[in-house]
Parts: sequence; structure tokens; C-alpha cells
Amino acid sequence: MDVNDVKTREHELVPHRGFTLISGTHDPDEVDQIYNLKIRDSDVFVVTYPKSGTIWMQQILLLLQAKGDLAAISQLNSYSNADLVPWIELIGSRQAFITAPSPRLRVTHLQFHLMPAALSQKKGKVIYVARNPKDVLVSYFHFHKLANMLETPKDFDDFFEKFMRGDVFGCSWFEHIKTWYSHKDDMSMLFITYEEMIQDLQSAVERISVFLGEELSAEQLASVVKHSTFSNMKKIPQANYEQVSGELLSHQQGAFMRKGTIGDWKNHFTVAQNERFDELFHREMGDIPLHFIWDIR
Ligand code: A3P
Repeated sequence: MDVNDVKTREHELVPHRGFTLISGTHDPDEVDQIYNLKIRDSDVFVVTYPKSGTIWMQQILLLLQAKGDLAAISQLNSYSNADLVPWIELIGSRQAFITAPSPRLRVTHLQFHLMPAALSQKKGKVIYVARNPKDVLVSYFHFHKLANMLETPKDFDDFFEKFMRGDVFGCSWFEHIKTWYSHKDDMSMLFITYEEMIQDLQSAVERISVFLGEELSAEQLASVVKHSTFSNMKKIPQANYEQVSGELLSHQQGAFMRKGTIGDWKNHFTVAQNERFDELFHREMGDIPLHFIWDIR
């Protein structure tokens, strides 16, 4: 029997109320209770489609909270950023969220309709990080080889088709971003892109700190920026997931902090795949006023 058969059956994608969950990772009943959670004004949710820079935003939030003091975060003795800024949808997370002290910082890939209704009454804050979907697809392809809760793709072409159909955890990238974006003004939301962060991390960090009402000196802000660059995060075990258990990530298959760049899709897409992707993008996103950076020139 193929190892992947076991992987697939243990961690299969389960359709759930217009979204998909991963069996063994998410519990549908627990996920359903997220909608009614009481939200505090100090709560912050980072919302992303997979592979859009979640770990990066976790790092920035932690550093902002610690006023740029990396040593203070390291002393918290966690294995990874995800212990300190946890996923709200993981099994067991909801109860911990209810009793956690403020400020409660959380990340999620969930679709809008599964998240706390109170967010739409402008309770708490939401940071939506979007990334150009061609690079998301490529990053997600590599992550599937690494992540033991996800089926290892046969090859890039096979994964490309799955992503185009939305047949992956997170479902359709287009639906995810369109739904969240359409509710932007109902919530206290900062909408920011991965590419903006790559191009000017200093400005991005400043925007995030203003949005969160964090008051940092210029020196402290510079320290946040310094410790959240790709090259520096790669060296910080907590920030690069290298200490995450081998049960979850097959570290020998590659690094979680892989390339951290814009335009890697050009090394993977064929001309025909690119044309099909562009066609789908224009059909889905035609009238949405969002502009992505696809490449660094
Ligand atoms: P790549 O696979 O393209 O390198 P997520 O945390 O949502 O799973 O996103 C992971 C992606 O964000 C990976 O993309 C990872 O390298 C990238 N990333 C994480 N931290 C980054 C940083 N400081 N700068 C640039 N990219 C970063």
C-alpha cells in the first residue's frame, strides 16, 4: 500500500458548510461553535488563504507586542509562532481561546461565514493578508509535500488542476478573497498584501502598528522590521517552523520558509497553464478593484 493512501485517508478533506475541513485536524462541531464566540475589542484575527504569509504576520504581531524585543519572544519557550498566535479552527483551540488573557491573537484560514458573527459588528480586529494566487499555488504545491496532514500531489500539473477547481484545503482562492473583501467595511479590517510587505516591509509594519494602536518608538519599529525579514526569520527556529513535530511536517522534504519571493510561479507554470489561469482570474475577479503584483522587475 502506498504511504500516501494512509495519509490521504487519515487526513482527508471533508466538505463542511460550504468549506472544507481536514479530518483529524479540525472538528466540525467545534468549528461550528466559533460563530457564536464572544469577541473582545482587543482580539486580533489574521485571516489568510493558505500560503499567503500567515507565519510572517504572526511574527510581526508578536514582535509588535514585544516592542521589537526578539529575546522576549524567545523566552516564551514555544516551539513555533503558531503556539503563540494559534489557529482558532484547530481541535481544542476554541476552549483555550475563551479563557485566554487579552490580547488574544489568532490566525485562521476559515471562510467568513464560519467566523465569529461579532466581527461584523466591528468587535475585534481582522488583518486579511492576500497574496497573488499564482505564487500561492506554487507555495501550496511545495507545502503539500511537506505537510503530513495534506495529500502529497502526484506532480505539479495534477496540483495545478486541483487548485483551479478549489479542490484543496481553503477551497477556491477566488471565493475566499472575494467573500472576505466584500465584508471589509463591515469589520474593523486591515487588508494588506504579501507583495506590499515584500516591497516595503517598513511601511507595512507601520500600517499594522497604527491599525492595532501599538505605540512603538522608531527604534522599536526598526527592530520589528529587522526580525521579520525572510532571511532573519529563516534563522529563528520559532519563526521558521523547524521545531514543529516531524509528525506534522516532513522536514526532510523541504523548508517551510522556502523562497519568500514574488514571481516563483514563472518557474513552474507552462505557457498554457498561465493562459488558463489568467482567464480564470479575469472571469472571477473582473470587477473587483484589487491589483496584484505578479513579478518583481
Ligand atoms: P514560499 O513557499 O513561496 O516561500 P503561510 O505562513 O501562510 O503558510 O505562508 C508561507 C509562505 O510565506 C512561504 O512562501 C514562506 O516562505 C513565506 N514567508 C514567510 N515569512 C516570510 C517573510 N518574512 N518574507 C517573505 N516571505 C515569507
